[in-house]
Amino acid sequence: MGRLRNKHIILAISGGIAAYKSAELVRLLVKTGAQVQVVMTSGATEFITPLTLQALSGNPVHQHLLNPQAEAGMGHIQLARWADLLVIAPASANVISRLAQGQANDLLTTLCLATHAPVLLAPAMNQAMWHDQATQANVQILIDRGLQMHGPAQGEQACGDVGAGRMLEPNEILTALETQFDQGLLVDKTLVITAGPTREAIDPVRYVSNHSSGKMGYAIAQAARDQGAKVILISGPTQLPIPDGVTFVAVQSAQNMLDASIKAVAAADFFIATAAVADYRPAKVSEQKLKKQNSDHGLTLEMVQNPDILASMVQRFPKAVHIGFAAETEDIIAHAQDKLVRKGVSMIIANDVSKPGIGFNSDNNQVSLVTADDVQKLPLLSKPQLARQLVEAISHISHKA
Ligand code: CTP
Repeated sequence: MGRLRNKHIILAISGGIAAYKSAELVRLLVKTGAQVQVVMTSGATEFITPLTLQALSGNPVHQHLLNPQAEAGMGHIQLARWADLLVIAPASANVISRLAQGQANDLLTTLCLATHAPVLLAPAMNQAMWHDQATQANVQILIDRGLQMHGPAQGEQACGDVGAGRMLEPNEILTALETQFDQGLLVDKTLVITAGPTREAIDPVRYVSNHSSGKMGYAIAQAARDQGAKVILISGPTQLPIPDGVTFVAVQSAQNMLDASIKAVAAADFFIATAAVADYRPAKVSEQKLKKQNSDHGLTLEMVQNPDILASMVQRFPKAVHIGFAAETEDIIAHAQDKLVRKGVSMIIANDVSKPGIGFNSDNNQVSLVTADDVQKLPLLSKPQLARQLVEAISHISHKA
């Protein structure tokens, strides 16, 4: 009996040949001590019978949204609230598309909208359907909303094609589910995270800033919260929703971010600097809006250097574990190692911003974790996936300290 013991799992099965493997997943889940409710789309029932899944899960299978008898038992909202985790396996191209559109036209999609539990998808479809732009765009929408994709795997397909599209094996899906309950790595720990850009005022209506989206910092805040940490997220202006269960401090300038960090880090175990802090700010902020001058001359702004927030936290609060990011375009590891020593931090998370599709303002990232005695290169991952790995790595530093 493991981490899934007594956990409430909804296994939603959509229509695809891989549905036959879901019977084995139910068996494995029940064996680990989980309580399983199975939901089937009408397509799924073409591939495997509800009776099989009822026998394996020990519970009646849920198939219809508007069935008075079923609603009198465990209605759809009750079922959504009951779940600790909702896994869709297999997730067909059709289900992925309907979820991306936010549809609620059957029980499965309605549950996904109504539940607060993490939603995991194990996609399965023909490789060409998986690679199709529409499917890939839908998948990205779901990842951006925080749903998790596990797979598909490469290999031979039922239709005879070879490629990406096979559903992960039931034991691989089980492992993915178990890691969701890996909580507790950061219980009793306080993490302060800076995120997003800073805005340096020129006058009451203008500022100097950068394109940082804040996605990496927000994802780390969520992953740390999920591991039981008390999280204080100090953020410059972003378009992102404030994560639940996190203390949020909104700031504008580097000086604001420094002040908020000094307050928060005094009682923190970790300081993680993901913010893209403007290195310089205008020397003088004009009290009135600057007017256009009637001349051929341009405008010259005098800039002064901003405080280095990360270096300042290392100096003021040496007992905390400090972690910095380094965005580099060449000699990534050498520059990161130099920054590690220069800023006096425990770890630098280094990424190559010269590569398209990773790092700054993108949804994916590929980084190396640089410490005094090690360099670990991680694979290309979505920012939420990467955040979970980073939080795990960070928690090990605390155990060393
Ligand atoms: N950082 C900070 N305050 C600043 C500048 C940077 O806290 N004023 C933090 C960033 O959040 C990041 C790390 O320091 O975690 C590295 O930032 P970076 O700008 O890459 O490093 P610099 O020290 O500015 O070095 P360089 O610009 O020479 O690469």
